[in-house]
Amino acid sequence: MRGMILAGGAGTRLFPLNQVSSKQLQAVYDKPMIYYPLETLMTAGVREVHLISTPHDLPVFQRVLGDGHQWGIDLSYGVQPEPGGIAQAVTIGESFTREQPFTLILGDNIFFGPIGLANQVSAFGGGAVIWGYPVKDPQRYGVIELDPSGAVVSIEEKPSDPKSALAVPGLYMYDGTAVSRAKELAPSARGELEITDLNLNFLDDGQLRAVEFGKDITWMDSGTHESLLESSNFIAAVETKNGYKVACLEEVAYNMGFVSLEEIAGTIEAMPMSPYRSYCERAILG
Ligand code: TTP
Repeated sequence: MRGMILAGGAGTRLFPLNQVSSKQLQAVYDKPMIYYPLETLMTAGVREVHLISTPHDLPVFQRVLGDGHQWGIDLSYGVQPEPGGIAQAVTIGESFTREQPFTLILGDNIFFGPIGLANQVSAFGGGAVIWGYPVKDPQRYGVIELDPSGAVVSIEEKPSDPKSALAVPGLYMYDGTAVSRAKELAPSARGELEITDLNLNFLDDGQLRAVEFGKDITWMDSGTHESLLESSNFIAAVETKNGYKVACLEEVAYNMGFVSLEEIAGTIEAMPMSPYRSYCERAILG
């Protein structure tokens, strides 16, 4: 399955940090934020990835991530001229998805723990899949209501009276009809093509499935100063306590069998002397 990462948007809540760089290139502890969603896709076995960003920020993503060959993946890029909504960005990826199924992940979403995406990818049989994550403040999110059998009854965007505590994280799986469905959507009151409307379109056709995340999963959306710091603190705590790195893409690529030992050794050798390089040498080269 292919993967799409959305890294456009304005990042206004991070002002003035968004003047320095795109939100998804800000540091989450010791790596750019974009490494984390990329890790999520790679560990699910996704090797063809399309990243969409703004005309202003795209060249920096290209400089930082390149064409992905160093991680054994094929990374291509698309431009969203204006932040017209997440569902609009999906339509921009049309030439990449080519009516094939794809996993969509938002570039500021970090998932930690056994999310089981690889299983969902191999079991995917069409329609759309979304996830539900229990939160304390569902009013801030898209909220799904499930019936006792686990079928989706409704999705409401930032409801004042939420029907459940299950927020919809920025991870979605779509079949090849997603782009044409997204193109048919009408802009919302804020002038955007909304991802919730795309999901509702699948729901109306009985084609939407939801998977509940368990308590062993941590989901972080790093779009505000507080959540950015929280994400950094979380990753720092995990890495310091356990002695391994989260989202070390060289390690992921090697463990997934995307690159050979010789190839990854060459990549590591080209890195400047740094704690990141020392970790790669220790964790991969032994
Ligand atoms: P948001 O956090 O909803 O929007 P934003 O990134 O513009 O931030 P702010 O609200 O602070 O201005 O976006 C969620 C993710 O989706 C984020 O990774 C950026 C991406 N996105 C796009 O790629 N294109 C878009 O048109 C929008 C709205 C978001």
